[in-house]
Amino acid sequence: MKERLQELQTEAIEKVEKATTLTDLQDVRVAYLGKKGPITEVLRGMGKLSKEERPVIGELANKVREAIASALDAKKADMEKAELEKKLATETIDVTLPGRPIPVGGPHLLTSIVEEIEDLFIGMGFEIKEGPEVETDYYNFEALNLPKGHPARDMQDSFYITEELLLRTHTSPVQARTMKEYGGSKPVRMICPGKVYRRDTDDATHSHQFTQVEGLLIDKNVRMSDLKGVLNRFAKEMFGEEREIRLRPSFFPFTEPSVEMDISCKVCHGEGCSVCKRTGWIEILGAGMVHPNVLEMGGYDPNVYSGFAFGMGPERIAMLKYGVDDIRHFYTNDVRFLKQYHKV
Ligand code: DAH
Repeated sequence: MKERLQELQTEAIEKVEKATTLTDLQDVRVAYLGKKGPITEVLRGMGKLSKEERPVIGELANKVREAIASALDAKKADMEKAELEKKLATETIDVTLPGRPIPVGGPHLLTSIVEEIEDLFIGMGFEIKEGPEVETDYYNFEALNLPKGHPARDMQDSFYITEELLLRTHTSPVQARTMKEYGGSKPVRMICPGKVYRRDTDDATHSHQFTQVEGLLIDKNVRMSDLKGVLNRFAKEMFGEEREIRLRPSFFPFTEPSVEMDISCKVCHGEGCSVCKRTGWIEILGAGMVHPNVLEMGGYDPNVYSGFAFGMGPERIAMLKYGVDDIRHFYTNDVRFLKQYHKV
């Protein structure tokens, strides 16, 4: 029996050494150490042995089993190591490959311009106000000196919801709302950015929905020169210190006198070129001294208080500042357009 066990050990270890795959090893394990293997068989025949022989053979059988098992384990570890080394050698990582770009978003150009305008006016002591986009006829028109039937209502083609409700055509109603909120006794210094709507056919310079920033300042002894000073500061901060402004007489029902403000053309510096249509100036906003009727309807005594107001279009400002040639770029969300203006 002893010899048989020794033989089995030699045989099994030889097979382990010859094995080339993990499957070969598994076969050897099953064949020699399995329940139906020769070692188990030897042990089964131990009943025929004498009392003295039994422990000796038992011990030897265990040793043989351990020897085979450890040969199998060692070979398996070798094989796995070789496999890993082969993998490491073939699957090298090319650290010089460029990484995969992770797209990063940024604020929309219009958002950035509105925030820039807000910062500028906050710096001059203005507060930010908001108003509803679905507005009453009263605030959108009447409280701004535009009674029903007034011909100037035609200047702004409107989306009516009912007789008395419409999508606001400008941010000016927030002037009337703020005056009412302030109750006719406190000074006002506010701007209101927001969306406005007009029944226009969309093209390169028109959009049925666009953005405006309204401004209103009311106090005692407010003069036209205050308006000019604030707008001049705004123009220079927004477009550059070298820009000049010009106020031209105009008409708005809610201001008297009314003006339109131009800035000197950055391309020709006032000489006249195709960008400014040979005038040397580019129109950027409407403004004026708040009409006494508007002050009065807002609860402010026009004999005590005076004020100025202005309204501008951030799209137009962005178009002039960055040379954007079509207002529709702001709304179509083409990332190729948008990402040019992401500040990093
Ligand atoms: N609401 C005017 C518009 O939409 C813009 C405007 C002009 C606003 C003069 C004003 C202003 O406050 O004083 O065309």
